Amino acid sequence: MRAVIESIGAYAPPRRVSNDEFAKIVDTTDEWIVSHTGIRFRHIAADDQAASDMAIEAGKLAMGRAGVEPGDIDLVIVSSASSDYPGFPATACIVQDKLGLRKAGAMDLLAGCTGFIYGLETAKNYIVSGSAKKILVIGAETLTRIMDWTDRNTCVLFGDGAGAAVVGASESDSRGIIDSILRAEGSGAELLDRPAGGSRMPFKAGETDPSELYIKMDGGKVYIFAVRVIVTTIKAILEQNNLTIDDIKYIVPHQANIRIIEAAAKRSKIPLEKFYMNIQEFANTSAASIPIALNEMVEKNLLKKGDKIITVGFGAGLTYGANLIVW
Ligand code: UT7
Repeated sequence: MRAVIESIGAYAPPRRVSNDEFAKIVDTTDEWIVSHTGIRFRHIAADDQAASDMAIEAGKLAMGRAGVEPGDIDLVIVSSASSDYPGFPATACIVQDKLGLRKAGAMDLLAGCTGFIYGLETAKNYIVSGSAKKILVIGAETLTRIMDWTDRNTCVLFGDGAGAAVVGASESDSRGIIDSILRAEGSGAELLDRPAGGSRMPFKAGETDPSELYIKMDGGKVYIFAVRVIVTTIKAILEQNNLTIDDIKYIVPHQANIRIIEAAAKRSKIPLEKFYMNIQEFANTSAASIPIALNEMVEKNLLKKGDKIITVGFGAGLTYGANLIVW
């Protein structure tokens, strides 16, 4: 039994904001943002849109494309670092209700920007074990709600959006989610976090520094980590599947910074053209970035049945990982 991606869907909020608009808010320029990150635009959720609202749009599209009825879904997994509520209830439960997934279990998965990669591997194992037949895996983020709009080091980097995949059981012995690598280096947890509001540093009215409620990042250290793990994880997943990079049609990396991808490509001697990139349009959408990229690739007809692709990601946790998928 194989777990196959039956369809992909994505949603980006219509409000599209250029770097020049950020230059009006913080001390930055379009030139700095483009040259340091590759980002030109990001999409920003409307005031009344939460992560689940975007997850639902992406999920609906994916289910429609797969021809799957809401009652067919056994489990919905939502990966998000910017969920509807701090802690609970799970965003997946809101999605389960509003999409009418009447027999589905619902859970959130927190693995930072690696969340969709973790979600696909989790879904694969439910399916291969026979515990589920159809799973909706979603990455959905409203990062612009949890970033500090006065901090130029972070606020120019993030965007909102969602992407979804219907993962189903198949008798095919060639297609599917073939293998994954899921890893963490929790020693780097404080390099990328929201320090306050949890049990470590509870919110205390009048005492908590509001900036502690937003994303904090040691960008330089995360950058070095990202390049290192992209290189080693691609190498490891190729080796453990007896493949070479020539067997791979595309690498679909987490879209955090074009320079991270360029540095990883150079260090691993993989042609940059193999890496699919759309960060220029969406900025860093964390757990949503890989399914948004996959959706764009499907819509551009870049993926044919039988193509081998590798997703690779890294993020808060710190986490990292990859999926090897035969499309
Ligand atoms: O999804 C996973 C999480 N995120 C990431 O993977 C991000 C990883 N890190 C990065 O992508 C990069 O480290 C950044 C884009 C965050 C920063 O790029 P950098 O080339 O490493 O810049 P830097 O941190 O070395 O900063 C260089 C200068 C600093 O000024 P000084 O101290 O040298 O005077 C910053 O204050 O650039 C300044 N700077 C800015 N200037 C204009 C930082 N942000 C901005 C900005 N506009 N938006």
